[in-house]
Amino acid sequence: RETQVRDAYDRPLRDLRISVTDRCNFRCVYCMPSEANICFMPREQLLSFEEIVRLAQQFAGLGTEKIRLTGGEPLLRKDLVQLVKMLYEIEGIKDIALTTNGVLLKRYAKDLYQAGVKRVNISLDALDDEVFTVMNGVGARSGQVLAGVDAALEAGMTVKVNMVVKKGMNASQILPMARFFKEKGIMLRYIEYMDVGSSNGWNMEDVVTNKEIRDMIHAEMPMEPADPAYFGEVASRYRYVGTDVEVGFISSVSEAFCSSCTRARLSADGQLYTCLFADKGLPLKPLLRSAASDEEIQGTLRAAWHKRDDRYSEERVSYYESGRQKKRIEMSYIGG
Ligand code: GTP
Ligand code: 5AD
Ligand code: SF4
Ligand code: SF4
Repeated sequence: RETQVRDAYDRPLRDLRISVTDRCNFRCVYCMPSEANICFMPREQLLSFEEIVRLAQQFAGLGTEKIRLTGGEPLLRKDLVQLVKMLYEIEGIKDIALTTNGVLLKRYAKDLYQAGVKRVNISLDALDDEVFTVMNGVGARSGQVLAGVDAALEAGMTVKVNMVVKKGMNASQILPMARFFKEKGIMLRYIEYMDVGSSNGWNMEDVVTNKEIRDMIHAEMPMEPADPAYFGEVASRYRYVGTDVEVGFISSVSEAFCSSCTRARLSADGQLYTCLFADKGLPLKPLLRSAASDEEIQGTLRAAWHKRDDRYSEERVSYYESGRQKKRIEMSYIGG
């Protein structure tokens, strides 16, 4: 499309990650630990579905093809299925996906699928409930998440599982998780623990690099590289030799992938973030609630993307080496 916009490093705007709520029924240690003092947005500050859809239409006009609904926990947003139906109608949007902790999926999977969510990424950090309980902070058991996985599969969705690895917490689960999901034929993706936000007290020492994980798995279950599914995919993919089961590694700490980052993020209260590590967003609500036309809104989005020069994961090391501190937004606010 001739309307496609490119940023300062020539990256197109392909994906829109929409956070529909900053609330969550989990308190993951790496995201919003129970002891952190997290304030949630007052509900009246959330964008309405009509406002979200109007923005998504303008993003589609700029070349966005893919929408991912995130949170917090997106299934806590009332009537989410209704929003999916509305987004599904937008011309140019080819893919609507969801990132969730899975415990509410059993209830919603079928309706979500029918409304247009064909793919879901479900977070699960451990099979062992002693470990998992510590990771999620609310006593959730892995069986509840696995029931969500099964419900999504039954509904017809393509499922991937995300596991964030934090050293000394769930590293013991790396191999059990690999074995389990290989057997089940589901793609498991290992995510390096990242320095998003400031409530998790991130420390480089808590990161297990994906190279270490790959070596551990390979020693027991040999893997061969597989091709990325699309340009700019965040996970590097491998296939277990002799099977068609894949496993992925999201290495934003040890091998940054900013050069192909085509993702914009919209917070639940309508701020546009051009990077997961951005220190501030562009508030779009005032524009939506003014007399601005669709063209004006699209112009604002275009201008914001045009000047985008974020590449934090590539700059991270120099930040830490120089002892500079960067203000960072919480993950639960912009949905990972
Ligand atoms: P698909 O490839 O469409 O299945 O989804 P995805 O991997 O882009 O989405 P998902 O929400 O499952 O993301 C998994 C994790 O990858 C996120 O929680 C982040 O930890 C990481 N991630 C995704 N996008 C970015 C990004 O733009 N920058 C960084 N640094 N990490 C990202
Ligand atoms: N580092 C890496 N991944 C994180 N997620 C949340 N916080 C972090 C972090 N600090 C992941 C979740 C989920 C996705 C939405 O974001 O596990 O898969
Ligand atoms: Fe909730 Fe996801 Fe954050 Fe865990 S990582 S606290 S499930 S938003
Ligand atoms: Fe994209 Fe920012 Fe993540 Fe780099 S750090 S991949 S620019 S979101």
